[in-house]
Amino acid sequence: MTDTTRQAALENFVRGLPKAELHIHIEGSLEPELIFELAQRNGITLSYPSVDALRAAYAFTDLQSFLDIYYAGASVLLAEQDFFDMAMAYFRRAHADNVVHAELFFDPQTHTERGVAMGTVINGLARAQEQARTELGVESGLILCFLRHLSEQDALDTLEQARPYLDRIVGVGLDSSEVGHPPEKFARVFAKARELGLRLVAHAGEEGPPEYVWSALDVLKVERIDHGVQSIRDPRLLDRLVTTRMPLTVCPLSNIKLCVFKHLSEHNLADMLRMGVCVTINSDDPAYFGGYMNQNFVATVNALDLSAAEAKQLAANSFEASFITPEQRAGYMARLNQYSQNLGA
Ligand code: ADE
Ligand code: ZN
Repeated sequence: MTDTTRQAALENFVRGLPKAELHIHIEGSLEPELIFELAQRNGITLSYPSVDALRAAYAFTDLQSFLDIYYAGASVLLAEQDFFDMAMAYFRRAHADNVVHAELFFDPQTHTERGVAMGTVINGLARAQEQARTELGVESGLILCFLRHLSEQDALDTLEQARPYLDRIVGVGLDSSEVGHPPEKFARVFAKARELGLRLVAHAGEEGPPEYVWSALDVLKVERIDHGVQSIRDPRLLDRLVTTRMPLTVCPLSNIKLCVFKHLSEHNLADMLRMGVCVTINSDDPAYFGGYMNQNFVATVNALDLSAAEAKQLAANSFEASFITPEQRAGYMARLNQYSQNLGA
């Protein structure tokens, strides 16, 4: 085999891997075309004259520069059908990348503060989940994220508003501007969510220091860390992540677009994977960062020279880290093993 055919074979193998996506902000899957369509449907005037002009504005220097444009994009979502259309478009893209299970983050405060009811958001997303299950065979869960630039009281009120819909939600998370808003600011609301039987995750160590990962673990008692790439700066923390198999939902193309790493070849995902950290690959906000799951997988495998066995390990990690039953996990792992055996990997 030539190097080119070997690389094409590896890319095909990676694309076909059954996988779970655990770090996708559903509002970050809104493509510019759909933003314009929804703006027109809802009589909203955007501050960009065209799809191309909006896309051209996607040149970010850090997390905050992205969040400003991301919240503006989400402002076109008003009706239940809008949330359904957004989520259904994501599920179709995920299905094309062989995502068989997805856990979707959503940011209710972005919508409720504009007068959209919690039920409108959740019912629209839940209807898309049902259609994705029956039409595409893609299973999914919803994770309600609190915006960390707002107060803890606002988060507590949001959890209260979500009370009638808790059977539709698998867990809670923490996102938005990280630096200056440490996890411990949300200690009470996470304790409350835990009492209610919800699973817990938080963004930590995306731009913020390793201390934020420690407090997400020890104060919030999260079961997964979203991003967590700054953990590499603290050997004691890395040791803890390895020994506890604490999953990190890493988003390689996001990290490049938001200038966390300069080049993908400098990303620390391969180092952490080889140390035994339960790292997974995810798309974060695929409409803004230039790629859904398979674009993240293929670019990372190529840039970091990962083997087929390492790519399979990343898919296995995604099922290990999913909030699913042991039976579901065993089913996905059997599917993954069958797939790689058939391809001799
Ligand atoms: N909200 C959407 N994407 C995010 C990210 N990458 N970090 C923090 N909050 C977010
Ligand atoms: Zn994120």
